[in-house]
Amino acid sequence: MSGLIPERVIAEVRERNDIVSVVSEYVELRRAGKNWKGLCPFHKEKTPSFNVNPEDQFYYCFGCGAGGNVINFVMAIENLSFREALERLAERVGIPVVSERASPQARQQQSERERLLELHKAAQEYFHQNLFGQAGGLARQYLAARGIQSETARQFGLGYAPAEWRGLLGYLERRGFSEAECLAAGLASEGRGSRCYDRFRSRLMFPVCDRRGEPIAFGGRVLDASQPKYLNSPETLIFAKGNNLYRLDLARRGFRDKGFAILVEGYMDVISLYQMGFDNAVAALGTAVTENQARILHRFTKEVVIAFDGDAAGEAAAWRGLEILRKQGLRVRVAELPRGEDPDTFVRTYGGQAFEELLNKAPGLTEFKLGTIIRRADLSTVEGKVAATGRIMEVLAGLDSPVEKNEYLRWSAARLKISEDVLAAELEAYEAKAGIESSSRHRISTKSNNRGDGKGRGGSRTAPEVQRQWSGAIQGLSDIESNLLRLLLHNRQLIHRVKGVLSPEDFRHPVAQRAMECLFTCYEAGHLENGAAIFDYVEDLSVQQFFASLLTSRSSLPPAKACMQYVRRLQIMHLKDDLKVLEDQIGRVEQRPLDARLVSQLSNLLIKYRQVREEISRGFQLQRG
Ligand code: GTP
Ligand code: MN
Repeated sequence: MSGLIPERVIAEVRERNDIVSVVSEYVELRRAGKNWKGLCPFHKEKTPSFNVNPEDQFYYCFGCGAGGNVINFVMAIENLSFREALERLAERVGIPVVSERASPQARQQQSERERLLELHKAAQEYFHQNLFGQAGGLARQYLAARGIQSETARQFGLGYAPAEWRGLLGYLERRGFSEAECLAAGLASEGRGSRCYDRFRSRLMFPVCDRRGEPIAFGGRVLDASQPKYLNSPETLIFAKGNNLYRLDLARRGFRDKGFAILVEGYMDVISLYQMGFDNAVAALGTAVTENQARILHRFTKEVVIAFDGDAAGEAAAWRGLEILRKQGLRVRVAELPRGEDPDTFVRTYGGQAFEELLNKAPGLTEFKLGTIIRRADLSTVEGKVAATGRIMEVLAGLDSPVEKNEYLRWSAARLKISEDVLAAELEAYEAKAGIESSSRHRISTKSNNRGDGKGRGGSRTAPEVQRQWSGAIQGLSDIESNLLRLLLHNRQLIHRVKGVLSPEDFRHPVAQRAMECLFTCYEAGHLENGAAIFDYVEDLSVQQFFASLLTSRSSLPPAKACMQYVRRLQIMHLKDDLKVLEDQIGRVEQRPLDARLVSQLSNLLIKYRQVREEISRGFQLQRG
């Protein structure tokens, strides 16, 4: 799972990032004995059951079972891959994580990217200084006229590109950047006789940032009615429009607190909403939402409320966006703004409370679609009704739940002023033609993705509606298995002792098997100094939670000398299983005419059984080899 990152780097990153200080950046922790406690960020709760253990450097929630080391924590809370989380933590403590096996080209690209990032940082400083300096008077007036406070402007790193041809160029050159670099960054243009000049002039500058909040591109707005209204950075090595969302870096926290994202169209919408306390808004850069942006959003939240401009174009864009977002598994609602308003003008005209209401009553996907169809339809003519009905059928036929289908059928019938029966018959005919199973034959959606399957790390975060108390117990796991694993986890010398006689297959439960594999791998890698190391070798969530629960268990740890007894009991447990199989098979052979395959299976089993029995009678000498 660690890919090309060397083991020692992983261990170093983990060791240098104290879990208490990292978790504290997200959760308010209080000391409780030798542990720290707080409200679990992975499920909704009122009394703290989220524990951080500074000694063994892991966390565990008694409420929902979430658990792991500092890397797992960052992965879960930021919805990052292992590598991304590791890079984030490495950066936090200043450890370079360049893969040892990276190709020269990859290294070259990496250094070009870093250079570009530095250049953008310098450019932002330049624009920012100008906004708050002498040249920025007009731009400041413009912002004030639009109700943007200077504190907000600072928070968003807004700037001003003065009306100069070589303002930025000169500044960047003084900082050691070449014209070629400014061109590659898209901040300069090439004129006649390959003379370079500033690409952005007399514009209000909006830095576009990556997920860490570093500027990677700019949008520049004119201060008057001239065209084009916005000029944006071209795509570069560090910036791809479709892979970024405006101010995702700021809004991520908001997503978590508010439980959903607001998707708007413009930079100004994000800023204006933020100023009114809606800190969970992002904008797609450019026009339509891309699949990639939807995927990114889905990593951070489960629900999106689209708040596009209240005009036909906005409505059409919302419609397209809906589908893209829904396909990525997001719940989507659409806030319907009055004609001619965008979120920015709306909050300034009607206030935050009114916007809040708009968000609250934002209809879901189906209702929005049906509503739009009906609003646009000409219900005064038969043709109009027929056309609208056709489009409604399309929407209804796409619904999975029969209950929903029925509800929306009634809803539509009332609005179209058609009898329900007629519409139901219409739907049946439509579905028959399209080859869709009718709603009367119950189709049950099996799309359930709550915890338990080991996937969907993020899925557990936005609290599934029903939160059951996590018992920590794994179904079907025997005490022998969990005690032995717990012993090995706490005592690495024991792993050395059981190495020759115990294998992961000796465990019956798949989680225990995988846990044993992790213990062996971790042991081979020479890492078992504290509890947290084991999590570097864990690949799935159920094993991760299992280890965290083992580490947290308050029942007394069996003595080390009991280890071999556990191994023996585990093997005896297997013997009993084998015996049972043997008996079954004998029973079957007695009933059936002789079957060659069965006989050979049987004799194999007998051989195995005899071997083990001999071992037991020899006093179970485990330390062989
Ligand atoms: P204001 O008019 O200042 O309120 O801007 P806005 O942020 O509300 O922008 P608007 O809703 O008009 O457009 C939404 C987004 O589309 C903007 O934030 C820009 O990213 C982009 N956009 C708008 N106009 C242009 C343009 O002329 N050129 C380009 N390249 N992008 C534009
Ligand atoms: Mn606007």
